[in-house]
Amino acid sequence: MKFSPTLAALAALPATSATIYFAGVAQSSGEFGAWSPTQTRGTGLPGRFGVDYAFISTSGVDTMIDSHKVNLHRVAFLLERILHHHHQGRLYVLSSPPPSPSPSLTSETDAILDPHNYMRYNDPSSQPFSGSVIGNTSDPTAATTAQFAAFWGELASRFKTNEKVLFGLMNEPHSMPSRLVFSNLQAAITAIRAAGANNMILTPGNAWSGGHYWTKGGDEANSKWIHKLVDPIKNLAVDIHEYLDEDFSGGHTACTQDPVANLAGVTGWLREHGLKGFVTEFGGSNTTECKLMLEGMLGYMEENEEYIGWTAWAAGPFWGVNSPCCTDQRQLGSLEPGSRAADGGPGLYDSVWVPVIAKRVPGRLQWDGPANVTGGVVRERV
Ligand SMILES: *[C@@H]1O[C@H](CO)[C@@H](O)[C@H](O)[C@H]1NC(C)=O
Ligand SMILES: *[C@@H]1O[C@H](CO)[C@@H](O)[C@H](O)[C@H]1NC(C)=O
Ligand SMILES: *[C@@H]1O[C@H](CO)[C@@H](O)[C@H](O)[C@H]1NC(C)=O
Repeated sequence: MKFSPTLAALAALPATSATIYFAGVAQSSGEFGAWSPTQTRGTGLPGRFGVDYAFISTSGVDTMIDSHKVNLHRVAFLLERILHHHHQGRLYVLSSPPPSPSPSLTSETDAILDPHNYMRYNDPSSQPFSGSVIGNTSDPTAATTAQFAAFWGELASRFKTNEKVLFGLMNEPHSMPSRLVFSNLQAAITAIRAAGANNMILTPGNAWSGGHYWTKGGDEANSKWIHKLVDPIKNLAVDIHEYLDEDFSGGHTACTQDPVANLAGVTGWLREHGLKGFVTEFGGSNTTECKLMLEGMLGYMEENEEYIGWTAWAAGPFWGVNSPCCTDQRQLGSLEPGSRAADGGPGLYDSVWVPVIAKRVPGRLQWDGPANVTGGVVRERV
């Protein structure tokens, strides 16, 4: 029998359940200027704003909002830059104003605050490996779990009246016990809620927050830990990173890792626990394979209701011809609007963002109201 749906029957169909509420780009430059080829501790700290580091370029952000209709930016910074009082190298008190995304950023779009510290503190001179692991009780120079929680409690109290701000607890914890990752994250969540902030929190996982690895690693697997985090108001989403090259690092040009296959495990885990996820780092080079895989990944997030947001890696005012990902160190530029490659050719903004990623920014996103894992009202940007 040939079935021809009437309009009434169509109207009765459930609305497509998959919804991306937030889409945009990571803004990376706030963590710049601290790297040292000789691993000299203290390099670039606290650093000169606008010289060693910056958070965004307002014109770049304006282009992203006006031309590409994105409603989310993930803004990276270093903990060491906003915690000026050091006490025996420890994380101590929040003594200076936290990085305030500019009004033009937060008045129209949401921003994820992203301490880009790999769950380490006191020496970013050779990130992502330098610095003491936060909460390492065998390391007398390490910041404690309680100090990490105090930091988040303080930051939350300063941003709790700004419904455009989301709290990304930490960028890419790695090479540490998952139990300690869990303890630090739970302490931060508890402190944020105790400060009276209802903002959405994004929790990373161990092992660089890698989506492909989420259910791997036996007892250390994120899938054994992260769903146990308790948020008293249940406004906690999971922060996943996924690159497409051979070792998932985002370092290589060739895309060989199919994200649709590789995200199946973490997607199933999200579903099993009724959790929602953001992919806050992903990217690919300007090859045909990368573009196909990026298309596949963006489509996959649209089709699976477990995913509610994403930010591509990365734009930012300080990249110049350098590339945030996916180029084998070749200087192909960044996702920053106007970016050029070292050979003067189009940068990744023109070769990847515009033709591939920007086309997948949903026409309807959440432009009003606080971010909430249960969803919000989506509309076109007027
Ligand atoms: C914790 O600190 C001790 C002493 O410095 C060190 O041996 C150990 O590797 C550290 N643990 C982690 C996970 O870094
Ligand atoms: C999220 O939305 C649900 C359902 O509308 C609501 O009950 C809850 O209070 C909201 N949470 C926050 C933090 O606004
Ligand atoms: C990628 O971009 C660079 C810089 O514009 C260019 O030289 C190169 O040919 C491009 N590669 C592909 C596969 O299009």
